[in-house]
Amino acid sequence: MGFRLTPVTGPDLVGREKIIGELERELGSENQIGFLIYGLRRTGKTSVLKETQRLLEARGMPVIYVSMWNIAPRTVDEFVRVLSRNAIASFWRYLPSKFRLEELLSVGAGAVKAFISGLKLTIAAQNDLEMAVSYMTRESDDIEKAMTGAFMLTEHLSEMTGRRSVLMLDEFPTLRELQYGRYNQKAGESVFGLIRTIHEDFRRTKLVIAGSYRSTLEPVAFSKRAPFYNGLLLRTLAPFEMQELGKFIEHYMGGFKWEQNARETLLHVSGGLPFNLQLLGRELQGSGGGRRIIPDDVEVAIRSIIRTEGDVRFSDYLRDLAPHEIRILKSYSNHRGEGIKDVMTAEHIEQATMRSGVKRLVKDGLLRRTGRGTYDLVDGLLARWLQAADDEV
Ligand SMILES: Nc1ncnc2c1ncn2[C@@H]1O[C@H](COP(=O)(O)OP(=O)(O)OP(=O)(O)O)[C@@H](O)[C@H]1O
Ligand SMILES: [Mg+2]
Repeated sequence: MGFRLTPVTGPDLVGREKIIGELERELGSENQIGFLIYGLRRTGKTSVLKETQRLLEARGMPVIYVSMWNIAPRTVDEFVRVLSRNAIASFWRYLPSKFRLEELLSVGAGAVKAFISGLKLTIAAQNDLEMAVSYMTRESDDIEKAMTGAFMLTEHLSEMTGRRSVLMLDEFPTLRELQYGRYNQKAGESVFGLIRTIHEDFRRTKLVIAGSYRSTLEPVAFSKRAPFYNGLLLRTLAPFEMQELGKFIEHYMGGFKWEQNARETLLHVSGGLPFNLQLLGRELQGSGGGRRIIPDDVEVAIRSIIRTEGDVRFSDYLRDLAPHEIRILKSYSNHRGEGIKDVMTAEHIEQATMRSGVKRLVKDGLLRRTGRGTYDLVDGLLARWLQAADDEV
């Protein structure tokens, strides 16, 4: 079975039956209820969204998927463009006449109106498109109107085609980074309030948003005053546990015989993150088929991954952290599972610094609380990479 480092769907997606089952059932139903999917980096959020999209589309439901990480440049303009384009693509086979948004953008401003009215869209959908297009062709500065147009386009296309639809926004908190205007202002947190207001008008479109970091989800949904605090069902995607690891091994490495303690080593170092399992699995596969896997084999694979691609894989984890937070993370990689006091003393870190640093690292899912006053890194590979970096100096 082939390993991969990009989102998986179909038979290659292991486990996750419960959440995918619920998403398919609920989103496919008459209920007007949306979801917020929260999961650490590389737990498989995008895979779950894509698989749900696949299942719903097979049932004739248009699903619009937009990942904020694919919005480049990160501007309102580009977001409106991608959202409108994807909405139209999803409804393509249900629309009366074919067209491309690109064509629409290339025709002169004055022609846009005539062009759109030739498409046999409803008036509401025409207005949304005109608004979105005029924003993209820089005839308007009103981001509120442009965003409303882009979001309502899906709703109006649903109405027009007599269907229910789903709008998936992956890495949703990044919306506040979108830039606009001459001075590159950022959309800011008010964009979440705006989307909530738009969402309240949806009758046929269900919203599914996903995010990776607790701290960035706070102004979206986690704090009491956040716009989506009550509006969406929250579902958390946890790393794999032993049972799912077993399924993963069976599906991807059926030919190997695993000793129980090798499985434990694999679970510990991968942190149950499917991404790490794909990486480690591929590395282990290279060592030949039909063999018995012992903890030492896993150890060899870990070393090789850290050496050949540790820097590429893990340096972006540290990018947004303050120096003291990196230091705390490193300390924990050298004192895994130890009490906060012991780590503080061993590494000469001040109490206040330690407290605030640990709090932030827990919020961002890099550390997790394992007991009273004890924390550990979530990602065992990251821990090993940090240790290795420390050993080099
Ligand atoms: N259920 C699964 N079974 C097998 N592999 C999986 C599963 N879920 C995710 N993966 C693998 O893990 C990696 C990350 O998956 P995915 O991109 O879906 O996660 P993510 O949470 O969206 O990550 P990111 O935080 O980087 O956006 C990919 O290599 C994918 O192949
Ligand atoms: Mg993702």
